[in-house]
Amino acid sequence: MKGKICGTGAYVPQNRMDNDQIATFVDTNDEWIKERTGVEARHIAGTEETTVSMAVMAGKRALANAGITAEEIDLLIVSTTSSNLILPCTACEVQKELGANRATCFDLSAACTGFLLAYNTALAYLNSGVYHTALLIGSECLSNLMDWKDRGTCILFGDGAGAVVLKGTDGDMYFPVTHSDGTKGEALTCKSRHDWSNLYDDSGASAMQDQMHRIGMDGQAVFRFAVKRVPEIIGEVLTQNHMSKEDIALYVLHQANKRIVEAVAKRLDEPIEKFPMNLQEYGNTSSASIPILLDDLHQSGKLHEGDKLVLAGFGAGLTWGAVIVEW
Ligand code: UT7
Repeated sequence: MKGKICGTGAYVPQNRMDNDQIATFVDTNDEWIKERTGVEARHIAGTEETTVSMAVMAGKRALANAGITAEEIDLLIVSTTSSNLILPCTACEVQKELGANRATCFDLSAACTGFLLAYNTALAYLNSGVYHTALLIGSECLSNLMDWKDRGTCILFGDGAGAVVLKGTDGDMYFPVTHSDGTKGEALTCKSRHDWSNLYDDSGASAMQDQMHRIGMDGQAVFRFAVKRVPEIIGEVLTQNHMSKEDIALYVLHQANKRIVEAVAKRLDEPIEKFPMNLQEYGNTSSASIPILLDDLHQSGKLHEGDKLVLAGFGAGLTWGAVIVEW
């Protein structure tokens, strides 16, 4: 059984923050951000927008695009690291709003590789015949987790959601390749509210409060990891599936940094035109970036029946992975 993406959808907040606006509250400038990252703007959730509301919008659009109703979905996975609530999970909140009452729902947390792992999880279920139609959503409200005083991180990230409808079809599935290295986890962290251990000092005051819920990153370490591991894993996924670079129409990479994408293209000796990007407009939206880009490509007619794409994600954990998708 093969997976077939039969609908895409995306939602980004209307509120657009360009680099000049960021430069009004941290010591940075448009030229530096564009040159070092490629990012020109990011979209930031308004007070009414949440990880759930963005996921619902992206999910609705993917269902409409696939021409199916919410009742036809039997598996709903939301990939997120920025859920509004600990309980219930985001996927159940989305189920409620969409009326996807037959769906089994759960969240998946693997940061920027999360959407790819949600895709693989759904594929395994479809392939084994447990479920038949999946709605996969990556949704992130990273602005809630941002240290807006840290110019090393706040310039990079944005909010948004992307979704795909995945159905099982006849044929052999392409084998995904994924890796994790928990020993390098400190490179990208967000000390969360689950970490109660250091929360209170002897007086009972919340000593850690200021550092909590904020993304911290060793940018150079993540950069080095990405430019080494992403080309490697793309090579692995091609070998695993007895394919070559010539078979691939487009590489849909997690949108972290233009220089990372360019370095991957160079290491693979592939033309940069095969690496579409939209990070200039949305920044890094973590697990939403791949489905938002897929939707952009689909809506603008850049994907054709039978095209083979490589999706590749990488990020906190550290985690990384690649999968081949036939359009
Ligand atoms: O989904 C995965 C998530 N994370 C990533 O993908 C992050 C990967 N890493 C990166 O994208 C890059 O490492 C960054 C964009 C975060 C940083 O770029 P860099 O080229 O690695 O810069 P750097 O950290 O080596 O800093 C170079 C200089 C430093 O100044 P000095 O020490 O040379 O005087 C920084 O203080 O640039 C300075 N700098 C800035 N200047 C203006 C750092 N951030 C900024 C800034 N604006 N926003």
